[in-house]
Amino acid sequence: MKILVIGSGGREHAIAKKILDSPEVTTVYAAPGNAGMRLDGIETVALSIDQHADLIDFAQTAGVAYTFVGPDDALAAGIVDDFQAAGLAIFGPSQAAAELEWSKDFAKQIMKRYGVPTADHQTFSDFAAAASYIQAKGAPIVIKADGLALGKGVVVAETVAEAIDFTREVLEENKFGKSRVIVEEFLAGEEFSLFAFVKGDKFYIMPTAQDHKRAFDGDKGPNTGGMGAYAPVPHLPQSVVDTAVATIIKPVVEGMITEGRSYTGILYAGLILTAEGPKVIEFNARFGDPETQVILPRLTSDFAVNIRDLLADQVPDFTWRHDGVTLGVVVASDGYPGAYVKGVPVPEQTTGEIITYYAGVAAEGGQLVTNGGRVYLLATTADTVAQAQDKIYQQLTAQETTGLFYRKDIGDKANV
Ligand code: AMP
Ligand code: GLY
Repeated sequence: MKILVIGSGGREHAIAKKILDSPEVTTVYAAPGNAGMRLDGIETVALSIDQHADLIDFAQTAGVAYTFVGPDDALAAGIVDDFQAAGLAIFGPSQAAAELEWSKDFAKQIMKRYGVPTADHQTFSDFAAAASYIQAKGAPIVIKADGLALGKGVVVAETVAEAIDFTREVLEENKFGKSRVIVEEFLAGEEFSLFAFVKGDKFYIMPTAQDHKRAFDGDKGPNTGGMGAYAPVPHLPQSVVDTAVATIIKPVVEGMITEGRSYTGILYAGLILTAEGPKVIEFNARFGDPETQVILPRLTSDFAVNIRDLLADQVPDFTWRHDGVTLGVVVASDGYPGAYVKGVPVPEQTTGEIITYYAGVAAEGGQLVTNGGRVYLLATTADTVAQAQDKIYQQLTAQETTGLFYRKDIGDKANV
């Protein structure tokens, strides 16, 4: 098989690399991919994710067996619908099914309709109404701009004033190009992610993962796409996962069929383990980045065949490692998630037990240099979180990381 992966980040590197492991696969293309992927033999295609017609042309000419979509914006733009209309197999939800991610308001309606536990909320387009609701509820309180805002559309406000200021930015100053906010109850508890492969009414759960969304150690600083992750979350009992599957994943998968929006692809539930059990903070319609880079190395079955089977409505035989833990630390450009410089040299690729997954890199005179916020991630598997941390942080200390930074505490929450 030849397989096409859409996207260019560390997540897509992990997807493409795992697919390339399959003895059934001769070629993996990534569009647009990144220069670091080429070190692993992945072929990059100079097409951007919004060039649907050109991507379809490419897939037809190259004879790809199927296409795997990485990023949410491609799904929201209807890439799956366009490929299917051209008669091509593609793994990802339709635009209508991906609305679970691209409209938080829609996700809330689905959760309400199918009894899925989530934070209490109200949606507003009128600023005065939102402000008086916030005042009545008090802080802490969470405000979300409706729609994709690349992680910047959410404020966990410590005070009523902060909540109202952000609401004004969204509804009156139009800072996010959104006309609605969701005002949500603050949920206290540990955050974790649960991923499932979904095809219609069938779903297959992956190991749990925990992301680190803030830029700096101790969960300080601005929200980012994610600065590191580990899987599985060792201190999370299986009973919590079972409850989350029964009360969240299953009713949503079945509800989407009832809605006439049958779901194919990855369903990603961002959860908080509250005193009342796991509750949803958001759904995403795709793999997480960097969670993918710590989940997929644990897959022991043939990923390319698994996805082919899933798409063909055959029972895929997903199998996972059960021993140890896989941990990944993101190395980012100084300044990320704000402004940063590009063109900084990137350390050599690791070998052996440590995998390098590349994201914001470009090739310049035979050398990889930075050209994005999150640059690369080192991942490894060890018996314990502490041992995995030792391996990764020793490697990072030995690397030349001038102009780059990384968190020194990825996985610490698992050690307490
Ligand atoms: P989201 O974009 O919905 O994932 O929100 C970004 C981050 O804000 C999440 O990863 C959580 O850490 C936090 N967050 C979102 N909603 C809530 C909530 N209702 N209660 C507490 N924290 C939240
Ligand atoms: N790591 C969070 C995300 O992919 O949305």
